Amino acid sequence: MILDIRGIDTYYGLGHILHGLSLGVGEGEVVALLGRNGAGKTTTLRSITGLTPPARGTITYKGASIGGMPAHRISQLGIALVPETRGIFSYLTARENLEIARRPGSRWPLEGMLERFPKLREVLDRKGRLLSGGEQQMLAIVRALLTGPELLLLDEPSQGLAPLVVETVMGTVRELKRERVSMLLVEQNAEMALELADRVYVIDHGTIVFEGTPVSLRANHEVTTTYLGVGG
Ligand SMILES: Nc1ncnc2c1ncn2[C@@H]1O[C@H](COP(=O)(O)OP(=O)(O)OP(=O)(O)O)[C@@H](O)[C@H]1O
Ligand SMILES: [Mg+2]
Repeated sequence: MILDIRGIDTYYGLGHILHGLSLGVGEGEVVALLGRNGAGKTTTLRSITGLTPPARGTITYKGASIGGMPAHRISQLGIALVPETRGIFSYLTARENLEIARRPGSRWPLEGMLERFPKLREVLDRKGRLLSGGEQQMLAIVRALLTGPELLLLDEPSQGLAPLVVETVMGTVRELKRERVSMLLVEQNAEMALELADRVYVIDHGTIVFEGTPVSLRANHEVTTTYLGVGG
């Protein structure tokens, strides 16, 4: 396992959100984390990246504990997050937003990324705050890739994107997988996630309630109707 989370409890102030949550991501594996609104998906990603460190439990990355490390250190270790809120700097241009993320030696050069997301090239000199939701989304994904991550955490990457761009995102995920980038994919779009993932976890009220392959999840009507709100 490149990432191994065991029994974490995470709080926002007095709000106890994650309850003994455990999950793992194997080397080169795409793992989906599904669950309804407020289940604790984003909080799980915030726990991994050190933005909201867990109060209990362990998080191990490549065999070493990262629990309690500051967020910037965790990012330097090769874990990149595409946050739900995108985190685009409003007063920097799209190009500047990308330049600050660039790291020497990334396997994902900017030019290749712009070929993949041509819409982004057209808006490179536009300030972040003027970009559309979809443009910000693409920018956030490209920015995360420019850091050359070994573990990529994606918080609802398809949200707000036109179907064609969703296809591009899915293609990018597949290509990253071929390059052995490990990924934890949070999605409301269960269909997309199930198409891409090797394994799936379903979270509810801050605990994992299902773990298995996409095939076994599709066959489990109780889980899909109770926790994912989709008819079986
Ligand atoms: N900063 C915060 N302070 C207090 N409570 C919070 C905070 N952020 C999230 N929560 C609460 O924690 C719970 C889990 O939120 P989280 O954002 O992890 O859910 P999610 O599964 O990502 O949902 P969504 O699909 O809507 O993005 C929710 O009940 C939410 O209201
Ligand atoms: Mg969320």
